[in-house]
Amino acid sequence: MPKNKSFDLEFRCADTDDADLVYALEEEAFPDPWTLSSITETINFRYAKTLIAYLNEGSGEEAAAAGFIVLYDTGEDVDIARIGVKKAHRRLGIGRGLVNKAIEWANELKRSALTLDVRAGNEGAIAFYNTMGFKIDCIRKNFYQKPKEDAVLMSVNIYGGNIC
Ligand SMILES: CC(C)(COP(=O)(O)OP(=O)(O)OC[C@H]1O[C@@H](n2cnc3c(N)ncnc32)[C@H](O)[C@@H]1OP(=O)(O)O)[C@@H](O)C(=O)NCCC(=O)NCCS
Repeated sequence: MPKNKSFDLEFRCADTDDADLVYALEEEAFPDPWTLSSITETINFRYAKTLIAYLNEGSGEEAAAAGFIVLYDTGEDVDIARIGVKKAHRRLGIGRGLVNKAIEWANELKRSALTLDVRAGNEGAIAFYNTMGFKIDCIRKNFYQKPKEDAVLMSVNIYGGNIC
């Protein structure tokens, strides 16, 4: 989709009926997608939130799922466990919109930081998180399997609903 085309974004909380849809988004975004059963479990987990971003191009067609985010409330922070945007809809601000939703939820829960881990070789995602204000906290050696890879742990402090 061209960058200058206008669209509306809507975010909806996933429920069990959305598990197949989240799985399809996972498969497109990750080399090691979560299984359908772990997605269903996470959607129903009381300390997690799965949000789907729907893109409406205003052409009378139904809004289409374009991305998703999976968040965990750790009790101290909100952790971004997964975030993915369909290839055709990247660089349109959808990832940013999803992270903004994570900030909103952290604010509601009175958590003061967002945390995440990302594959060290995932330069695009690390650049994205840098743009969003995240800083690198540490590297965890050989954290990921299939393929084996280091993890970069990143976080951002939030206060009153804003990144600080
Ligand atoms: C990372 C990801 C979620 C970003 O989503 P997105 O909707 O394309 O991101 P946005 O359009 O909101 O990007 C906001 C800004 O982040 C930066 N950015 C985003 N993707 C980038 C990339 N690949 N390279 C460099 N900078 C990037 C840019 O500054 C961008 O603004 P601009 O397009 O005006 O230059 C998406 O690339 C994705 O789904 N990747 C595959 C899954 C993944 O790696 N998830 C993270 C694993 S932890």
